[in-house]
Amino acid sequence: RWKPPVSPLLALCTFLIAEKHAGEKSPWKPYLDVLPKTYTCPACLEPDVINLLPKPLKKKAQEQKVMIQELFRSSKAFFSSLQPLFAESTGTIFNFSALEWAWCTVNTRTIYMKHPHRECFSLEPDVYALAPYLDLLNHSPNVQVKAGFNEQTRSYEIWTNSQCKKYQEVLICYGPHDNQRLLLEYGFVAMDNPHSSVYVSADTLLKYFSPLDKQRKAKVSILKDHDFLENLTFGWEGPSWRLLTALKVLSLAADEL
Ligand SMILES: *[C@@H]1O[C@H](CO)[C@@H](O)[C@H](O)[C@H]1NC(C)=O
Ligand SMILES: *[C@@H]1O[C@H](CO)[C@@H](O)[C@H](O)[C@H]1NC(C)=O
Repeated sequence: RWKPPVSPLLALCTFLIAEKHAGEKSPWKPYLDVLPKTYTCPACLEPDVINLLPKPLKKKAQEQKVMIQELFRSSKAFFSSLQPLFAESTGTIFNFSALEWAWCTVNTRTIYMKHPHRECFSLEPDVYALAPYLDLLNHSPNVQVKAGFNEQTRSYEIWTNSQCKKYQEVLICYGPHDNQRLLLEYGFVAMDNPHSSVYVSADTLLKYFSPLDKQRKAKVSILKDHDFLENLTFGWEGPSWRLLTALKVLSLAADEL
C-alpha cells in the first residue's frame, strides 16, 4: 500500500517499465516485444523539432511535454520506494525516457474501461486498459465502429458498420479527430481526413484587430476566461463556431460589450 496512493495511470506506466525491465522473465514479453520502441507523438520530439511546428500545435506539444515532466518529477519518490524490489538502481530503470515511453504507450493504445475505485489507487480516473492484439487495429477516419466492454460476454467488442473485403485490412476509427489531434494523441496524421481543420492562433487573430481598441484587453480577457482562445479552427465547412464566437466578441463595439 503506497502513501500517498498512486494514480491508476502511474501504476500502469510503472507496470510497463518494470515488466520491460524484467526482459525474458516477464510473462508479458511477447506483448512488450510488439509495442513500438519509440513514439512519434510531438511530446517525444526534440525541442528543436517542436519549435518548427505551427504555433497552436507547438503550444499543445509543449504542454504535453511539461505534463510528462511533471508526472516524472512527482513520481520520483514513489519510484525510489520500489528499490527493495529491484537489484538495479530504480533511478536507472525508472528514468525520464522510460516514463515517456510508458506514458505514450498508455496514451496511444489504451481503451476506455471503467474500473471500480480500488483502495490502493488515488481518486484519479481509473479508465485505462491495455488490449493486446486489439491495439494493432489501425485508424481510418472513414469507417464507422461501435466499441465498448460488454459486461455480459466479459469482453471488449468492436462492431463495424463498414464493409471489408476478404484479406483486406480491417480498420477502425479512433474518433472524429482532426490531424492535429491525431498527431498529438497518436503520433500520426490521416490522409483525406474529413475532419481536417486548420488551427488559428490567438496571436494571428489579434493581428487583424486594432491595437487602439480601448476594450481590447477586456475582450481578450473575456475570451481567455471562457477558454475561447484555444481550438479556433477552420474546417471543410468554414470557420468553426468557436472561431466565429471569438471574432464576434473581438468585433463588438464599445457599447455592446
Ligand atoms: C532508462 O530506462 C530504460 C528502461 O528502464 C533503460 O533501458 C535505459 O538504459 C535507461 N537510460 C538511462 C540513460 O539510464
Ligand atoms: C481543445 O481540443 C482538445 C482536443 O479536441 C480538447 O481536449 C480540449 O479540451 C479543447 N480545449 C478547449 C479549451 O476547448
